[in-house]
Formats: sequence, structure tokens, C-alpha cells
Amino acid sequence: MSNIAVIGVQWGDEGKGKIVDRLSERADVVVRFQGGHNAGHTIVINNQIFKLSLLPSGVIRKDKISVIGNGVVFDPWAFISEKKKIEQQGITLTPQNLQISEVASLILPVHQVLDQAREKSADGANKIGTTGRGIGPAYEDKVGRRAVRVGDLAELETLKNKIAYLAEHYNPYLRYLSEPELDKDKLVSDLIAIAPKILPYTYRVFEQLNHAQRAGKRILFEGAQAVMLDVDHGTYPFVTSSNTVAGQAATGSGVGPTSIKNVLGIAKAYTTRVGEGPLPTELTDEIGKLLSERGQEFGVVTGRSRRLGWFDAVMVRQAIIIGGITSIALTKLDVLDGINDLKICVGYKLNGNVIKYFPMEISRQNKVEPIYEIINGWNKSTKGARSLNQLPTAAIKYIKRVEELIDSPITILSTSPAREDTIVIKDPFAG
Ligand code: IMP
Repeated sequence: MSNIAVIGVQWGDEGKGKIVDRLSERADVVVRFQGGHNAGHTIVINNQIFKLSLLPSGVIRKDKISVIGNGVVFDPWAFISEKKKIEQQGITLTPQNLQISEVASLILPVHQVLDQAREKSADGANKIGTTGRGIGPAYEDKVGRRAVRVGDLAELETLKNKIAYLAEHYNPYLRYLSEPELDKDKLVSDLIAIAPKILPYTYRVFEQLNHAQRAGKRILFEGAQAVMLDVDHGTYPFVTSSNTVAGQAATGSGVGPTSIKNVLGIAKAYTTRVGEGPLPTELTDEIGKLLSERGQEFGVVTGRSRRLGWFDAVMVRQAIIIGGITSIALTKLDVLDGINDLKICVGYKLNGNVIKYFPMEISRQNKVEPIYEIINGWNKSTKGARSLNQLPTAAIKYIKRVEELIDSPITILSTSPAREDTIVIKDPFAG
């Protein structure tokens, strides 16, 4: 059985939730492998809207196993609150259909305090525009070998020792930031209180995934954020704190790289980003406003409005190479309906030269000027189209040109947030 990883190729919010939901019909297991409850995935089914942050999108389909892998940073309180919300919408989560890696690192309240305090005190140039969910500080503790991990919830002594060490580590800094100190006794008792609600879901995930593969089950690895927010390959330091590329699907869940055959990249037909950092094709004019309203470009997690830009083929092509992407799902095509001249970035000017790559270093990323190709738009609506022959010729030409520029086949088109409004040109599981 071929497994697939699904990742965003721009700056997130490409509509991964919908595509993962659609593809998970044909998967048995859906695994989140990085990020945390900074992600926001919206899934619309028969007019019912599900908003997920930490839970894999597979939970919506009741017969799938959903897995939170070791690469995720796991906030136990956020988990309980999201679980409650989704249960009120008729989805039941049990240890049979949801598995959490015992070696995932926890996000603790102190991480959130630090994340928000840093953002508050940062001057303009250093502000990242994080979601304030504690993601960065939690990953810092992980690589700093201080993290409390999910499995530690079962080990009172380990828990006490680790929290005491964290208090020692952070309290001088918290005092410096004029934030309340970490109360180690309270934190230990809060964790002990929540532990019975988490521990039944914990597993040796690597073993579960191994069994699943040996039994011929199909796994879908669900990415969060996107390649341009990758901590190595994105617009560093304006990135998230994890690797978002498909290679992380293996490390972040406990399978080998050979377990992932195909990688589907999700790209919006234009570009958005939330938070600070470069966006070379940014639109600050009326077209930007129009696309923003039509595309309802507001963050699922923070409600912030997203910045808008034209489709950047240079950046997407680069993300496809770095992400090992085998095909692309192009979303929100309908948002471009009725715009006469559509622009696509096909290169950049940098210090008087023309370049065909997106520089990896921030000061050059800030300096690039997009070179545009102009493509005729279409007047007919594409909203809700479910087959290629429902699309106007100009829309097909746009898609074909994008394929040429990014050097990758587009195998799926999404024409509205609804599950059914999707055109599958070629089975992405087949590469
Ligand atoms: P953090 O992940 O909260 O640390 O935020 C770091 C950067 O990643 C900020 O620019 C956020 O806006 C961005 N970010 C994090 N999660 C998402 C997401 O799910 N969609 C889009 N941007 C995100």
C-alpha cells in the first residue's frame, strides 16, 4: 500500500484540512507529525464546519485511526478542550481511534507565557508574529533536552524532577521579563490532575505504525504550516519552530523515509501569509482586499487577517524541490474568478540581476522584486466545479501554465471549501 504525506508549500493556510479529509477516505491511519495547536484546519461537511488545531483531520471520519506523532508539541489542556468541542459536534474520540505518542514533548503554560512575553517585548524587526501558543519555547525545551514528555505523566518522580529543573531554568528569566514565576507545585498538581485524561491514549506509536504497515494499511501523514515556514528552509527567522517538509513525516512519527511514497503539496492559487516576514508578491491594493474578502482570509487559530499576494511560481517550485513533492493540489481557484489580468511571479530582480530562485537568507529575501507574467483571467464562475469540463478555457490555461512554471503536475483542484467541490485529475496516492 502506498502511503502519502500532505504538506503546505507556501506559508500555511493553503486548505490542507479539506484535502486531507478528502484523501483520508482512502487511508486507514492519519498521522500529525509536527507543529501543535498553532495549526488551523477547517473542514466543511454538509454545511457543518469543523475547526481543528491539534487533532489530525482524520478524526472527522469515524472509522480511521488518528495519530499524534512524537514530532508534535502537545498541549494537554488544548487537547482536552478541542476534544470536548469536537465531541459536541458528534465525533467520539477513544483510545481505539486516537493514539498519542508517549515521546511527544508537552507544551506547558510557561511556554505560552514566554512566547507571548517575547512577542510583546520584541521591537518591530524582531517580532515574529507567532500564534502565541508556546510552540517555539516548547521546541526549545525539546532540543535543550529539558522537555516533559507525554509518557512522563505516568511517572510522578520524573515529573517532579523535570518541573523543578524547569523552574530553576526559567525563573530568573521570568523575573527579568516581569512575568509570574513558574510555580512548580501547582504545575505538578495540574499535570497529575490531567494525566488520567491523556494516558489512556498514549502508545508506542512507532510500533502501531509498523503493525499498520505490515497489515497492509494505508497511512496519510498530515503536515501543518508549510515549507516557507520550515525552520531550516523557510523565511528564517520568520518561521515556525519545526521542520514542516515531508522528511519530517518520518522523523516525527517513527517510520523510515521509505514508508512515504508520494508527497502531495498543497498550494493556493494565490499566496497568503500571517505574521511578519517577507512576502515578495504582496498586494496592498484593491485586488488584495478583494481576494482577502472572497477567500475569507482570516486565521483559524488567531483570527488575524492574512496578508495577500499573487501566486509565486519561483517560491513554489523551490518548495516542491525541498519538500520532495510528487504532485500538487491547487486550492481556492474560484477566488480568482472575474479578475482580468492575473499575475504570476516567474523570477526576481535582486541587486540588478535576474534570479530564478528564492534566496535563503532574510536580507536578500526582503530585497527581491518579483518579475511577473500576466495571464488572462476568466469571467465565468469556477466555484463549486467538480470536473475539468466545468472550468472555462482560460482557467485551464492558467492551471497548465502554473504546472509548467512549478515543474510539477497538478492532480487536484479545489473550487470551494465543501468536501465535494473538488476535481481529482489523477489519484495522488499513485504519484
Ligand atoms: P508559531 O508557530 O506560533 O511559533 O508562529 C510562527 C510563525 O508561523 C508565525 O508567522 C505564524 O503566523 C506562523 N504560523 C504558525 N502556524 C500557522 C498556520 O497553521 N498557518 C499559517 N501560519 C502559521
